[in-house]
Amino acid sequence: MSDRIHSLSGYFHEYQKSVADPENFWARIADSFHWKKRWDKVLDWNFDGPDVKWFVNGKLNITENILERHLFIMGDKPAIIWEPNEPGDPNRILTYKELYEEVCRFSNVLVEKGVGKGDKVIIYMPMVPEAAIAMLACARIGAVHSVVFAGFSSSALADRIEDCKAKVVLTSDGNYRGKKKIAVKSVVDEALESTDLVETMIVFQRTGQEVNMKAGRDFWWHEAIEGQSTSHVAEEMDSEDELFILYTSGSTGKPKGVVHTCGGYMVYSKFTFENVFQYTPGDVYWCTADVGWITGHSYIVYGPLLTGATTIMFEGVPTYPNPGRFWEIVDKYKVNQFYTAPTAIRALQVHGTEPIAPYKLDSLKVLGSVGEPINEEAWHWYHTHIGKTKCPIVDTWWQTETGGIMVSPLAGITPTKPAFATLPLPGVQLAIMDPDGKELKGNSVEGNLCIKFPWPGMIRTTYGDHERCKQTYFSAYKGMYFTGDGVKRDHDGYYRILGRVDDVINVSGHRMGTAEVENAINEHPLVVESAVVGYPHKVKGQGIYAYVICDMSNRTEANLTNEIKASVTNIIGPIAKPDKIQIVPGLPKTRSGKIMRRILRKVAEGSMDNLGDTSTLLDPDVVDKIIAGRKE
Ligand code: WTA
Repeated sequence: MSDRIHSLSGYFHEYQKSVADPENFWARIADSFHWKKRWDKVLDWNFDGPDVKWFVNGKLNITENILERHLFIMGDKPAIIWEPNEPGDPNRILTYKELYEEVCRFSNVLVEKGVGKGDKVIIYMPMVPEAAIAMLACARIGAVHSVVFAGFSSSALADRIEDCKAKVVLTSDGNYRGKKKIAVKSVVDEALESTDLVETMIVFQRTGQEVNMKAGRDFWWHEAIEGQSTSHVAEEMDSEDELFILYTSGSTGKPKGVVHTCGGYMVYSKFTFENVFQYTPGDVYWCTADVGWITGHSYIVYGPLLTGATTIMFEGVPTYPNPGRFWEIVDKYKVNQFYTAPTAIRALQVHGTEPIAPYKLDSLKVLGSVGEPINEEAWHWYHTHIGKTKCPIVDTWWQTETGGIMVSPLAGITPTKPAFATLPLPGVQLAIMDPDGKELKGNSVEGNLCIKFPWPGMIRTTYGDHERCKQTYFSAYKGMYFTGDGVKRDHDGYYRILGRVDDVINVSGHRMGTAEVENAINEHPLVVESAVVGYPHKVKGQGIYAYVICDMSNRTEANLTNEIKASVTNIIGPIAKPDKIQIVPGLPKTRSGKIMRRILRKVAEGSMDNLGDTSTLLDPDVVDKIIAGRKE
């Protein structure tokens, strides 16, 4: 059944209803799912705890709403279309029936390995259908998955294993990405040297490269599923049982495990998918994200599959073997909805329109953008050259913590404006706050973006540390969820996201804490102290600029910066590698020892004539020295 809104007046009507009576609004939507037992109460909440429960005492299994639900009416319809890295290699198409059978088989494997309800399973896999099968099998048996992007280093992986106390890791021998063949299993092996929590590792064979298999711990995926039954009775889960943990960066400390629960996430991911993309049965939908990020969770796997959609999974990268690859795939599968990140658009824009020329792109109906603010130039390029000016662009603002899209046009319904995420989805009550904690009402205002009422897909806690959840999201403004983003509401009441107002940067659509990068830099034995800031980058949106105080010993600057880059790659992964490293004699600190990041940001972006008041600095001269050594 569809809960799709069909017109602008319909949107306003639903929005009003969702604010006037949220419980009835969401109950009506939740009623179109299969519950093993209906909830007693729609919502119980306070933002002080925070303590939020949706569909209280409802019992369900999310995979029944994906698999059993679609099995008989559309069992032969493609659920997942997989396009491999190499264009000539065979693709794979899994129908809903095949997906059902594969998930059941793998559920049986997990059960056989002793995995049960509440156990934590790390998924560290390439973009192959088995990654989605693994997620769904966990959800089916009640285990909690935590997908870790396969580009993270062994130490980042080990941190996550330790934090969530995972007893199983699902991985692959290797991974293809563009020209590269990347070892994956050996990264897990290295991670497991520093923790003894993991009892079982199941390895999907992708590249066929040599790997070490530890007897009693490591098993091949293809051997494990052999002979397993293709049916499995789904575990009954409570609405508020954990569905998954996904680690994300914040402004302080190590990445935190954002916890999402079964009932609310199910309702929210499907509702937002259907409405934002205006998915209609038979459409082919493609989101280019990786399943390691929330976008992959909600809009490759859960949202589309709950809707009975056909979702494409692409293993490769946009520029391999050439910058026309995305468009070749769009034509090949007659993609109707295409969802990507501004950084990918900008990376392709650099190659001009020639790579697009051979392709028709006439199947496209909707284009989506996610992960970072989309600049107007990229918006227009996307609209003109990919959408041929006929496809609405949905600029979707949301976060790992929100579970699903929060502010976005409904495709073809909400009039768009370049670089504006436009209006909140039904059920989303936004507030713009000034620095003194006062809500800015009316139009033409700018401030910090908060949310003042719960929505079903919201974060419930940060795993193992509820206090951190409270401090990070529910303390800045009393009774509100604080997003960390700045926002402007224009004269039409449209929202434009201005970017993070905290120490989180967004590099190629990947979220990174500056403190996390600093910690990695500081691991280098010759580094005394460092400060990391973001700066505008033409393709990546933001680049990473690191100011580092070092003991130079016998090193040259080039040696040292290369070593630092290598060490960050080792500790976090290549996505955190600084673009620019400047060795500095000191950092601009106030008398109380706080680094004035504002100055470092200004220097990194090249606006040196506008540094503001530097009189409270302990040593104002250091600023001149930093400016003199600035990296272009
Ligand atoms: C940013 C990704 C502007 C924002 C789904 C947010 C955006 C962070 C947009 C969350 C957008 C995401 N326009 N900024 N359409 N979408 N962001 O957790 O700063 O990886 O706080 O979730 O990305 O990143 P995350």
